Amino acid sequence: MSSDDLDEMFAAARAAMDRAYAPYSNYHVGACVRSESGKLYSGPNVENAAYPQGWCAECSAIGAMVAAGERRIRSVLVVGAQSDGAGGYIDDPNALCTPCGGCRQNIREFATSDTPIHVAGPEGVRRHFTLAELLPYDFGPDNLKR
Ligand code: THU
Repeated sequence: MSSDDLDEMFAAARAAMDRAYAPYSNYHVGACVRSESGKLYSGPNVENAAYPQGWCAECSAIGAMVAAGERRIRSVLVVGAQSDGAGGYIDDPNALCTPCGGCRQNIREFATSDTPIHVAGPEGVRRHFTLAELLPYDFGPDNLKR
């Protein structure tokens, strides 16, 4: 993947992060998935006063991809940080907003073990993983095929 591709994904995820609805945790997350067609789908985390009803940024992005009729993820970029309450972020340069366990499984549904997952802070990409690194010994759709 070229750095231009990553720049584009980062910009989309970063814009979604700014639009996160996270009044309870104040932790803003934006996710961007690149589908098999090459299109980008992005979204933020959306929290709820009934806390468990909120959902992660990855779910917003995956939902947008599926709504557009696509079923395969080529790569993922996630960016997250604590809001400072004034439109900026409290940045810990060592922090990694890696997808939560449930999101790893949600990505797995539409991706493969070698799918790249890029993790960013507010200023740019910090680490590159594969899905296999984040979700080893995974359970996926193939397990249900006989
Ligand atoms: N969050 C995400 O959106 N994605 C993740 O993979 C990690 C956590 C959100 C959920 C909640 O709104 C906030 O971050 C704090 O956990």
